[in-house]
Amino acid sequence: MNSQDIEKIVRDEIIKNILQSQEFLLVGNWKMNKTKQEVVAFLDEIVNHDFGDKNTVVIAPPSPFLYLFEDKLRYSKILYGVQNLFPKENGAYTGEISYAIAKDFGAKYAILGHSERRTLFYECDMFVSKKVRICVQNQIKPIVCIGEDLNQRKGNDYKPYLMHQIKEGLSRISGDELLNVIIAYEPIWAIGTGETASPEQVEETHMFLRQYLIEEYGNEIGKEIPLLYGGSVNKSNIRDLALAQNVSGFLIGGASLSAQTMIEMNNILSGK
Ligand code: PGA
Repeated sequence: MNSQDIEKIVRDEIIKNILQSQEFLLVGNWKMNKTKQEVVAFLDEIVNHDFGDKNTVVIAPPSPFLYLFEDKLRYSKILYGVQNLFPKENGAYTGEISYAIAKDFGAKYAILGHSERRTLFYECDMFVSKKVRICVQNQIKPIVCIGEDLNQRKGNDYKPYLMHQIKEGLSRISGDELLNVIIAYEPIWAIGTGETASPEQVEETHMFLRQYLIEEYGNEIGKEIPLLYGGSVNKSNIRDLALAQNVSGFLIGGASLSAQTMIEMNNILSGK
């Protein structure tokens, strides 16, 4: 064995130890994908898999499939949520679902303000903040998505924009309520494009976001709010991204559609 081989073994061992000591939140955002048959096949593949106790695994399917999650994951530690909800309990809101409906099916999380919703459905920060509030008041954990587009990244003016998205998105909750919120940093230029932010870019941005959260909400709260990264995360890049500072987990689109890939990504985050 030459010195390079030995160095690699030592480095791998250190990385394993780091990953084994950290808890990660792994959230799959299925978007508008899968048929009923495919959902059943996916759930059958993961339902008896032991994901371990360290990481939390959450899947957000299209809402009509929630009943299958409720049924199949009844005795499982895998959690699930919705990709969006409307900030009212019920009423004349054609095409929408409420926190009450989501909760009725056992959803524990809600992805809010995803860039696809902001861009395609014109959702603004104020609307997102109402959704955040209704979730927090009703024991659903909001995963609030923020992220800049390519022009903002290139123009180097994305940081004030990210701060603004957080401040506005969280403007209707305060104090300990903030401890129920999860932030997902998803640069728009990295979503579904195959172009991931580099671990250095993620570390730099997450460090900035962590400092901002501490400044804005105080150390006790600011240091606790989980910061997920999302944007073309897959089993080849998740390990390096997980080693970046201040990364509490991942919001994963395309790669979360395969049960096997979810299992492999959780294995990597478990230091296996
Ligand atoms: P992606 O999607 O992993 O397919 O890039 C991430 C997301 O939009 O949440």
